[in-house]
Amino acid sequence: MSSVVNPTAGEPRSTSAGLANAYGRYSPDGREYRIGDYRTPRPWVNIIANPRFGLAVSHTGSGFTWIGNSQLAAITRWEQDLSRDASGRFLYVRDADSGRIWSLAPAPTFPAYKRFECRHGLGYTTFATEIEGIAAEWTLFAHSSEGLELWRVALRNTSHQPRRLEICGLIEWCMGVSPSPRREFHKLFIETRYDTRRGAIFAHNHMWEAVHSPRWGHWNTDFPYVAALACSEPVLSAQGDKAAFLGRCGDFRAPAALSEDLWKPQFGRHADAVAALRCAVELRAGESHRLAYALAAGESPAEVEKLIDQSARFGAGDDTHAAVDRLLELARQGWQERLATCRVETPEPSLNYLVNDWARYQAIAARIWGRAGYYQQSGAFGFRDQLQDSQVWLQIDARCTREQLRLHARHQFADGSVYHWWHPLTEQGHVTKMTDDLLWLAFVAASYIKETGDLSVLQDESPFIDDPQPAPLSEHVRRAFERVFRRSSPRGIPLIGAGDWNDGLNAVGLEERGESFWLAHFLVGLLADWAEIQRRCGALEQAGEFTRRRAALIAAINEHGWDGQWYTRATLDDGRKLGSRENRVGRVFLNAQTWAILNDVAPPDRAAQCLSAVREHLVSAAGALLLAPAFDRPIREIGYITRYAPGLRENGGVYTHAATWAIAAACKMRDRELVGRLLTAINPALKDPEKYWAEPYVLPGNVDGPDSPHHGRAGWTWYTGSAAWLHRVVTHWVLGVRPEWDGLRIDPCLPSQWGGASLTRPYRGSTYHVRIERGDDLPPGSPSEVSVDGRRIDGNVIVSGDRAGRVVEVRVRSR
Ligand code: GLC
Repeated sequence: MSSVVNPTAGEPRSTSAGLANAYGRYSPDGREYRIGDYRTPRPWVNIIANPRFGLAVSHTGSGFTWIGNSQLAAITRWEQDLSRDASGRFLYVRDADSGRIWSLAPAPTFPAYKRFECRHGLGYTTFATEIEGIAAEWTLFAHSSEGLELWRVALRNTSHQPRRLEICGLIEWCMGVSPSPRREFHKLFIETRYDTRRGAIFAHNHMWEAVHSPRWGHWNTDFPYVAALACSEPVLSAQGDKAAFLGRCGDFRAPAALSEDLWKPQFGRHADAVAALRCAVELRAGESHRLAYALAAGESPAEVEKLIDQSARFGAGDDTHAAVDRLLELARQGWQERLATCRVETPEPSLNYLVNDWARYQAIAARIWGRAGYYQQSGAFGFRDQLQDSQVWLQIDARCTREQLRLHARHQFADGSVYHWWHPLTEQGHVTKMTDDLLWLAFVAASYIKETGDLSVLQDESPFIDDPQPAPLSEHVRRAFERVFRRSSPRGIPLIGAGDWNDGLNAVGLEERGESFWLAHFLVGLLADWAEIQRRCGALEQAGEFTRRRAALIAAINEHGWDGQWYTRATLDDGRKLGSRENRVGRVFLNAQTWAILNDVAPPDRAAQCLSAVREHLVSAAGALLLAPAFDRPIREIGYITRYAPGLRENGGVYTHAATWAIAAACKMRDRELVGRLLTAINPALKDPEKYWAEPYVLPGNVDGPDSPHHGRAGWTWYTGSAAWLHRVVTHWVLGVRPEWDGLRIDPCLPSQWGGASLTRPYRGSTYHVRIERGDDLPPGSPSEVSVDGRRIDGNVIVSGDRAGRVVEVRVRSR
């Protein structure tokens, strides 16, 4: 492994810091991340998905494929072992003359390539390798809408002799719930069949663990999908049994089957189901050859056959390659078009790449569609999670946000409570005493209305889980509010129950006495928004009632929640405080400060103190910590947050989701220096991979805090709500272009070191091109000076008016 080539080593760093590190760098347009040395500290992954199907592929080629639900309907088997990262799918080459075996991505043979590059792109991953005189390119991607994963393979003989090669693709079938640790049981139900004419191995599972059907009971249903692995070349040999493929004491690095000429194929119902397809390729010196594999999944064998035969045109010679090229191009184009709208340009290229492309790609592919990452193969919809994520659609296609609102409204009970999460396909849901989930419906509906001005969303009808009678969204939201109002403490503060946004505070209020001041801050903002929405709907009495409630809540928070220098986070069932100077650990919590600022709970002097507390106790080089100091022993009455090792995830780490809110709060307080510091701190491209470990091109869920010996080490990439939020915070707060009820507010707060920035975004039928310059001569505290199409306007809200279809040029001078 020592001779692995690293094309970036020794090259000068780009003039803009952060575009290259020892393992990889962005392509010049930022749309690919290119890894030149595969010995990255952790798997650097791509999540490639369409709305119902997808694959995870790491820089070693490992990973998994799913359809409909990445956990309950995994097509391939994968082992979540991030230290080893060698499982799921392999593509082998064997030189028939020398007998040497290598793989076209590092796993599982980890060869010393002469040339290696893994290019993760938006919608595809390519491995470009050269070894043993064979140059290869292996590109994996998903069809833009169907259950079809394609492998495009190009081989070239760079040696001076003719070569006889054998290529072998291999996957292990999961065909059900992942992981599959009780394999000896699960394998008893999988059936494979070899379709000689198509050169395809089909798989089906006669038992699906996920479902309890009222009619058929438990463990008595087929897995609802069929899948097949096909090869575009005449198949030399096929194998459906893992033991036969590996051989006795076998190993994926050198499976016995690869050195055997005669395979004894085993298909049917009595094997440990895999699919291995081997073909032969002969190459004269300098000659090239293309081939392809398809992994297709659908609801019936006929659908799968159609995907292979028609979509990918397998078996049609050159037509196969043309079809595969076209599908790859469509998948790439799909992403370019999706991400073409709402783009920023700041002085930091890596931030531009992240905000414009990668964070939104992450939010859509991994969070909304796939609901999968390498650290969490979830498949479920989190009630609060995917609703927040769906805000990423607002400037792309707001109908998708609206659809998400409908989907979540359907997962509410008639009493206003909601599932904390539920699984699509099976509709299994998790009922908890979490107290904030239901309110995100109100939050995202308000975001939708501010973006679109369209109140008709409130009329969208959905049933409840336990009441089939459809009710409009406004009624779903009303029931959510009513439930939260009912569940308040005698002091008027909402109860925390089994946790609020912070899942780990899951025991704080189990007896329904503990209070959440963060939830109170959150509610204050919602009451303001919904008073306005009700006013616009003509419900003046309710609007007045919400306004009164809001004022009373602000008063109650400021009376009971102020701890002297910051806001308390919560009270326990027994009345003890959490996030208070009385606490040795868990003294200061971030969200209780940032949301008090964002939602105007804190009067100006307290807002300033909140921000000072954040600066003093929570700002670290890795971003704003969720709390400090970290809990150092389990505390039963608080919950599992205290059971994490100190500094990990919610327990005193940088929780990126909340760290983006800290940037918004710093913007609101106009603390440019802090905005710059916090933005830089969470930018993964600006990190030293030896300390940071995780991917430089997508956001991590968390980074270890200072109470961990690995302060600055990131994890939980891809599957994090911070991706959609980063885009929102940078566009709405840092660049400050914020939709309000009747127009776009222009209120930038650029980091002190930036001279300017620009943003182009659609808004209610027009395109706004906003160019922001520094106006250091403006008096302190003055709002930005805004010109629209060359004319200065009063104030800084551009009222949406008769500009439909136009490009509106906005110039901003901001202090
Ligand atoms: C996880 C959960 C999310 C929660 C966060 C903080 O990311 O999915 O819902 O808000 O943790 O606990």
